[in-house]
Amino acid sequence: MNIFLESRRSILGVLLVFLLQGSCDDPDVELHKAVGDSLELITEYPKKDLEVLWKYNQSVFADYRNDDFQNVKPELFKNRLKMNKNNISVTVTDLNLHDSGRFVIVAENKTTSVQLKTKHFVLRVHELIRDVQIVYNYVWLQSENICMFHLWCVASGDPNPSYSWISPQTTQGSQLNISLRLGEKSTLNCSAKNTISIKYTTETVVCTEISEGQRFCVKT
Ligand SMILES: *[C@@H]1O[C@H](CO)[C@@H](O)[C@H](O)[C@H]1NC(C)=O
Ligand SMILES: *[C@@H]1O[C@H](CO)[C@@H](O)[C@H](O)[C@H]1NC(C)=O
Ligand SMILES: *[C@@H]1O[C@H](CO)[C@@H](O)[C@H](O)[C@H]1NC(C)=O
Ligand SMILES: *[C@@H]1O[C@H](CO)[C@@H](O)[C@H](O)[C@H]1NC(C)=O
Ligand SMILES: *[C@@H]1O[C@H](CO)[C@@H](O)[C@H](O)[C@H]1NC(C)=O
Repeated sequence: MNIFLESRRSILGVLLVFLLQGSCDDPDVELHKAVGDSLELITEYPKKDLEVLWKYNQSVFADYRNDDFQNVKPELFKNRLKMNKNNISVTVTDLNLHDSGRFVIVAENKTTSVQLKTKHFVLRVHELIRDVQIVYNYVWLQSENICMFHLWCVASGDPNPSYSWISPQTTQGSQLNISLRLGEKSTLNCSAKNTISIKYTTETVVCTEISEGQRFCVKT
């Protein structure tokens, strides 16, 4: 075997190692959780000769070696970190908005020194939608004998909800204008939706003759 072939083979070898290392990392997994949820980060490798590091935003916060866990950064999740030897997992409980960030699980076979697939998670913690309300006002146009209703759908949540009215017809957006004849009633149904939650509320409005000309109502 000549030297040229030998060196070509080793270059190929280096390339192959490079490619294998590149493919060693799984792509990012996006996780959407609500405030108060738990995040379980499990290894799914055989326990034998396993060494694992869990990182949050680059820094190691837990490690598993010699069949034992270490809470490396107890100040990070305080008493919200649970470590489980049965399935080599760590769980962050009672998530809050500030826990959003990047989690990485790095695993190695201690005996063979083979690096196992590194797992990447991008966690986004969101606020559930609460208190969807329909707020409205209206004016009675005496000349046409109709009421012009102007309605808003309002809710809190993170990320900000998007709104749609599903009755009387489906329309997008937080505002809706309708007109009703005197004495007519309509039940309106608004939905507020974000990445992790959806909530509905309904409101029945009635067109009545009112002397003030305008009325402002809040449903609680
Ligand atoms: C590490 O390698 C040993 C020997 O090949 C094997 O028995 C064991 O299951 C491996 N452990 C992991 C976590 O890959
Ligand atoms: C891992 O073990 C814990 C504690 O026994 C359990 O609550 C959790 O559901 C297990 N996770 C999986 C994916 O089996
Ligand atoms: C972790 O990184 C995310 C995104 O870069 C950031 O929003 C968050 O504040 C960081 N958390 C800590 C505790 O540094
Ligand atoms: C509803 O009417 C109000 C006042 O006339 C107007 O400002 C608003 O743009 C209208 N909204 C829609 C969604 O048509
Ligand atoms: C509002 O619409 C949603 C979706 O169609 C439905 O699930 C919900 O029951 C409706 N609410 C009421 C009070 O009708």
